[in-house]
Amino acid sequence: MKIEKVGVVGCGLMGSGIAQVAAGAGLSTVVVEVDQKRLDEGVARIDSFLSAGVERGKLTPAQKVELLSRIEPSTDLQKLADTDLVIEAVVEDVSVKKELFGKLDGILRADAIRCSNTSSLCITEMAAATRNPQRFVGLHFFNPVPLMKVVEVIPALTTEPAVTQAVSALARKLGKTPVVAPDRPGFIVNRLLVPFLLDAIRALEEGVGSKEDIDAGMKLGCGHPMGPFELLDFVGLDTTYYIANIMFDEFREKRFAPPPLLRRMVLAGHLGRKSGKGFYDYPTRS
Ligand code: 3HC
Repeated sequence: MKIEKVGVVGCGLMGSGIAQVAAGAGLSTVVVEVDQKRLDEGVARIDSFLSAGVERGKLTPAQKVELLSRIEPSTDLQKLADTDLVIEAVVEDVSVKKELFGKLDGILRADAIRCSNTSSLCITEMAAATRNPQRFVGLHFFNPVPLMKVVEVIPALTTEPAVTQAVSALARKLGKTPVVAPDRPGFIVNRLLVPFLLDAIRALEEGVGSKEDIDAGMKLGCGHPMGPFELLDFVGLDTTYYIANIMFDEFREKRFAPPPLLRRMVLAGHLGRKSGKGFYDYPTRS
């Protein structure tokens, strides 16, 4: 199963990172956004990450130019027609994703592999809504995509084993370690990470420690690169709340229930780095 040309739909934080690592691995990459403004922002994000990489000596200016030349940005889904594999990285809304895959059914080759970068939605449900559910698989990247070394590969009930193998090989080509996860909310990583983050909030609510001390404890005591509150702000409190709710709905287990403080922070718009305020303040939004 040859994968030489890939498509990415969505050029937000995840989609732009995925397009960057695909092009970085030498693949022709088409990245599609709904409008020119979002497309330009996504391409600028890639450009600025690569420029920072040049400054750090991770790549040369010529390599940066070459990588960017392999990315074809577009607002037209038709540009995906000759791709071997498409990764969807649009908003986490199952109806939006199903509608997109419906459109892609009319554009892609029947044997092209369709992937979703969802962090929490049901892969089998999305696969079942496509023309070719055997060629559908979950491919979940982590933020920041160019730096995080793992990708979860999530076969639907209908996925052909050869497709799981092909996307695992692709993940390796992108410099990532593939881990095969079950089609259950949270897959492997969020299944363990989200209860940990929720527990940190409960610990804070119960007065176990200050957020600074809990973060320092986990960073210095366990070698985590970020403490739980830094990571909550990094991932986004709304994203964490959303994933926790999906996991709670499926499993009905207390450990997945979002604590009251999380819900109230989301309601107040304190979403973390993206809103300038979460558990910590971010005077310059990032
Ligand atoms: N180009 C190339 N390399 C770069 C780079 C760039 N623009 N920017 C940074 N790097 C490299 C650095 O050179 C360094 O590599 P080195 O050790 O080989 O020199 C490495 O990346 C780390 O860079 P920094 O020292 O600048 O940054 P930090 O040490 O502060 O690390 C971080 C930043 C990688 C984000 C680290 O804090 C981290 O790992 N945090 C945890 C992130 C995490 O858990 N992500 C997963 C979230 S969950 C998720 O995504 C799932 C979703 O479904 C919710």
